[in-house]
Amino acid sequence: MMFLTKEEEKIYNGEYGEVLETCMNLLVSLGDIYGAEKLIPISSAQVSGVSYKTIGEKGLEFLKDISSSNVKVSVPTTLNPAGMDLTNYEKLGFPKKFAKKQLEIIKCFKRMDIELGCTCTPYLSGNVPLFGSHISWAESSAVAYANSVIGARTNREGGPSALASAIIGKTPYYGYHLDENRLPTHIVEVEANITKSSDYGALGSIVGRIVKNGVPYFKFKKLDINNVSSYKSYKLKALGAALAASGGVALYHIENITPEANIVLKRIEKIEGNNCNIEKITITEDDIKNEYESLNSAECPDLICIGCPHCSLEEIKEVVDFILKNNLNKNNKFKCDLWICTSIYIKSISDRMGYTEIIENAGGKIVCDTCMVVAPIEDMDYKNIATNSGKAAKYLPNFCNSNVIYGDIIEILKKGL
Ligand code: F3S
Repeated sequence: MMFLTKEEEKIYNGEYGEVLETCMNLLVSLGDIYGAEKLIPISSAQVSGVSYKTIGEKGLEFLKDISSSNVKVSVPTTLNPAGMDLTNYEKLGFPKKFAKKQLEIIKCFKRMDIELGCTCTPYLSGNVPLFGSHISWAESSAVAYANSVIGARTNREGGPSALASAIIGKTPYYGYHLDENRLPTHIVEVEANITKSSDYGALGSIVGRIVKNGVPYFKFKKLDINNVSSYKSYKLKALGAALAASGGVALYHIENITPEANIVLKRIEKIEGNNCNIEKITITEDDIKNEYESLNSAECPDLICIGCPHCSLEEIKEVVDFILKNNLNKNNKFKCDLWICTSIYIKSISDRMGYTEIIENAGGKIVCDTCMVVAPIEDMDYKNIATNSGKAAKYLPNFCNSNVIYGDIIEILKKGL
C-alpha cells in the first residue's frame, strides 16, 4: 500500500470525519491501483461532472450528501461547464425542470467554496498553473492544455477524484506526475499544412485515434516558427481537445513550440540511442481532407456553435470581424442561431469591448457556463450543428443526436448568411 504520513493516516482512518475519510480512501485506492508510492500536494483542482445532463439524479444526491457536511476545498478549485448559462438560462430557453436541478448542483459546489466560473478553459480565467506544478484537473481538453502547453502535471482525473483531491489538497503520485511517463510514445511527422483551428482539430482527431492514450510528439514540416499566428494558443487548445476526445491523450509535445518538447526528446534519445524504436506516423494533406469529409454529416445548420473548448477573446473577435465585414446588424441578421460558448470571465471583457452587442445585434448569443455538448441541446430543437471543433464534431452525434457541419470559424459562419 502507498506510504501515508501520520496526518494522512488519521484522515484515512476517519478521525476528521466521514467526508474526508471517503475522499482519502478514494485517493489511496487510486494510488494503489496505479502503483503510486505517496500522495503529493497540488496547487489547484478543476472538477468535472457539473451538468445535470451528465451526472443526473444520482450525481446530484452524491453532491448534496458531500456538501451538507460543511467540508470545503483546500486548494483553488474551478468547475467544468454546467448544463446551462447560469445567468441567462430563461432568456436562452433552457427547459425549466432542467434549470431547477442544475441550480441545485451549483448550490452544492458553492457550499464547498468552489469557484463558480464554469469553464473548460480555466487557464484563460485565472486558474493558471505554473510550469512543473502538480494539479488535479478533470476536463480532458484542459488536462491536455495544462500538461502540454503549460507544462504543468496532471492525470486525466474523473469528477470524483478531482473533487477528492480538491478537498484533501493532494493527489497520488503516478502517471503524468512522473518524468518517465511524459516521454513521447509516437513521433508524428505532419506533412500537411496546418493553419486554421479546425485543421488542428482534424489533425487531433486522426492522431488521437491512432495513439489512443499515448504521448504524440509532433514535427510540423510546414510550420514556420516565426509565424506565431499559425500556432496560437487557441489553436493548440483545439488540437488537445480533439486528441483527448478521439483518443485518450493527456499530453502532447510539438517540436520547438511546447515547453517540454526539447527536454523529452533529449531524454528519449539518451534512453533509446540511435535505434529509436518509437513508432512513427505521417499525416498528409489527403489525411486531413478525408477527416474533414468524415466529420461532416449535414449541409445547412440550424445552430452555429463556436467555443469548444470555450472561446478566448481572440476567437470572439474573429466572429465580430466577420459580422462587421458582412454588414450584419439588427436589420440583417444571421439566418440561423449562433452560440458563442465561453466563460463568464471572457464574456465580461467581450461586453466591455462592445463585442457582445455587435454579436447580439446580428442575432447571435454569447452563452456562458455551458456548451453545445453538456447542454440539453437535443431538447431545444437543434438538429444540424455547425462547429469548428474536432471534439464537438466527435461528441455531438452521440451525446446530442445531432448532425455535424465541420469547418473553420469563417466557413461555418458563412453557412448562416
Ligand atoms: Fe468544453 Fe464542452 Fe467542448 S466542456 S471542451 S466546450 S465539449
